[in-house]
Amino acid sequence: MQSKKWWQNSVIYQIYPKSFKDTNHDGIGDINGVIEKLDYLKELGIDVIWLNPVFCSPMDDNGYDISDYMDIAPEYGTMNDMDRLIAEAKKREISIIMDLVLNHTSDEHPWFIESRKSKDNKKRDWYIWRDPKTDGSAPNNWRSKFGGSAWEYDERSGQYYLHVFSKKQPDLNWDNPEVREALYEMIHFWLKKGIAGFRLDAITFIKKSDMMDDFPSDSSDGLSPVDIGTLNQPGLLEHLHELKKKAFNQDIFTVAEAPGVLARDLPDYVGDNGVFDMLFEFGHVDIDLDKDGKWYKPLDRPLSGLKKVISESQEVINQIGWSPLYIENHDLPRSINHFLGQHVDGPIPAKLLATFYMLLKGTPFIYQGQELGMTNVNFPSIEYYNDIASIGQYKQAVEEGYSEEEALKTIWRRSRDNGRTPMHWDNGNNAGFSEHEPWLSINPNYQTINVQNNLTDSNSVFHYYRQLIQLRKNNEVLLHGSYDNLMPDDKDLWTYTRSLGNEKIIVILNFSDKTVPLHLPSPININETPLLIGNYSAENNEPMETNLLRPFEARVFQLKSEN
Ligand code: GLC
Ligand code: CA
Repeated sequence: MQSKKWWQNSVIYQIYPKSFKDTNHDGIGDINGVIEKLDYLKELGIDVIWLNPVFCSPMDDNGYDISDYMDIAPEYGTMNDMDRLIAEAKKREISIIMDLVLNHTSDEHPWFIESRKSKDNKKRDWYIWRDPKTDGSAPNNWRSKFGGSAWEYDERSGQYYLHVFSKKQPDLNWDNPEVREALYEMIHFWLKKGIAGFRLDAITFIKKSDMMDDFPSDSSDGLSPVDIGTLNQPGLLEHLHELKKKAFNQDIFTVAEAPGVLARDLPDYVGDNGVFDMLFEFGHVDIDLDKDGKWYKPLDRPLSGLKKVISESQEVINQIGWSPLYIENHDLPRSINHFLGQHVDGPIPAKLLATFYMLLKGTPFIYQGQELGMTNVNFPSIEYYNDIASIGQYKQAVEEGYSEEEALKTIWRRSRDNGRTPMHWDNGNNAGFSEHEPWLSINPNYQTINVQNNLTDSNSVFHYYRQLIQLRKNNEVLLHGSYDNLMPDDKDLWTYTRSLGNEKIIVILNFSDKTVPLHLPSPININETPLLIGNYSAENNEPMETNLLRPFEARVFQLKSEN
């Protein structure tokens, strides 16, 4: 078993700065806004902030297209503000981890500006350039993650460059040692500022296949998902081990966004011989997508699938490594709608989801607004959307014959903007986010779902999250105990235990919107055992019946040791 680390009993809060809090009234959240709200985060009880990118960027993909890694985007503030944020957070015993985007830069980064000047430029080989096919078309038929060809033609030099994401995000050539050294230098620059670690963006894409052939198309556009030649390719781990050795050679914490890693390969990535401390898995959040990730072909997502995916991952974590626990981030819809349905809302279901994932084995991440029970937004037309991926998916859906109305419905369900609408601070103008019209429209339900209401109501989702955080901190079994899924085949209930030595805690979750009977496998007996936490408070409902679970009810018990 690996030794215990500080980040294992931490709770991490993710901030999407553009939508968190605007202090200079331009409609865009900023670093000073994060500083202003540090006391709020302290009250919630978190230990670490993961800050989405705040570096200089033309904002084609909201900061994931970086034009200067070592400076702050003017709309977010200055390097002085950033230094102040690190210091102010530290005063409150909160540390900061930053987003590290190593797969690509912006096409406006000086490296790329040089690279595209000519075929013999010294930085030409820093990116991935290829000749056209003999008929002048793109080198192959790979489709970028945001739709359309993954190749962009450059008139001046007569070659194409590769972009896994948008055409304003050219991919770096990791096989070039100069590129790697330049990136390591940048990482050390940030570590010297006293940040505690990094979230690594799209890291399993950095190594490209040597084979640049066409692949069979999956759609009428003749293209094929770029993943086939760019995701999790042979040679990737060599690059990652060098990164670990040269850039992560101090006591920092790393969590990697690593799509494409299979459970059986986890020991290469996490644990004592792995590269990172944790790895974001996608199985549970992609449960409603087909294998190509097309949002406009959503699948059913029964509880059984979710339970299976999470349980498999928890069983690996029982043996090796550690897991980041998350149900929302800036790329996902709001969890309440994602996992429970487009029409579900309210504190009870929000608390059910909180109970379910915060008590699993791993380090919980809370995405801004999740602690209030924020929901998806249904903007009236595609013009309201900002997210480059939503716009790409909408276009592709319409091209494939969906009506605009149908296409829009899938955007309501899956758009990344669902999680990016501005944070609701109060029920005043623009939800207290800004005095200026915000860069993205506000969800109209801010009148009821907001921080102010959550703070005053002791039964709120916010206070429930606070309690869960405390419960984790006070119970070693919730940190290090092993996970057991008790009734894998139950269609409505998810019941799991966490056990360590003689201690055992049972988590009982009704994922259905109906009252259902509660049967537990013998010899488990919850009568006369203390309820540690539950999402129905005495006030908002009739007294608890031991053998019935109300809609979306969650109960957590400490079991007596003979169980
Ligand atoms: C990651 C980020 C996402 C971004 C993409 C390209 O998936 O989470 O927001 O669009 O990488 O950098
Ligand atoms: Ca601002």
